Amino acid sequence: MSEQPAIAVLISGSGSNLQAILNASERGEIPCRVGIVISNKADAYGLVRAEKHGVPTEVVDHRGFPNREEFDAKLVEIIRGNGAELVCLAGFMRVLTPVFVRAFPNRILNIHPALLPSFPGTHGPGQALSYGVRFSGCTVHFLDEGVDTGPIIVQAVVPVYDEDTVETLAARILVQEHRIYPMAIRLFFSGKLKIEGRRVRVSGEPRIPEFFHRNPDA
Ligand code: GAR
Repeated sequence: MSEQPAIAVLISGSGSNLQAILNASERGEIPCRVGIVISNKADAYGLVRAEKHGVPTEVVDHRGFPNREEFDAKLVEIIRGNGAELVCLAGFMRVLTPVFVRAFPNRILNIHPALLPSFPGTHGPGQALSYGVRFSGCTVHFLDEGVDTGPIIVQAVVPVYDEDTVETLAARILVQEHRIYPMAIRLFFSGKLKIEGRRVRVSGEPRIPEFFHRNPDA
């Protein structure tokens, strides 16, 4: 039997999205395996998660590089050497330059804890709470050369309650992240995703938001 395609997962912290991807892969819910996990932080718990699943890890500390481009070039070298067909950013808290983005055109996914284009950057749940929105959620999108601006593949919506703190809202969003990241990876490998300008279509299927798919009352 031929080996499944490999993906590279980039992390900076806890790696709970990595865990969701590892679980989905082991359950056969996505047609790929995690070939390498790369972290820019040596103490990222996600590295322990990877090791528990027998996945090779690399730490590339961004502080050891004179600029972002050289850091990115190192990441590209490792990922190419590993033969990964898709790169998944999963809580990777570094902005990547065109050196990285152009190395893997339309083959990099990112997950963001807000309903983009609202609240890009590093504090999605906190900004949603401060702004006073009644709904927030998460987004999986293709990476482009902007920050959290690439074409959107899947979003999921969660309510924001009056009693929410940043922590409770982030935790509610994270549950949905763990659901939609494997979903987006599955769609990617289905070969049905077509990027048309800003819009991502799933060929042969209507573009119905996931929220309505899953809501039995809708
Ligand atoms: C996740 O909520 C992810 O969406 C967010 O960091 C968290 C990482 O959690 N990413 C960003 O904010 C990127 N701008 P995890 O390490 O447990 O997967």
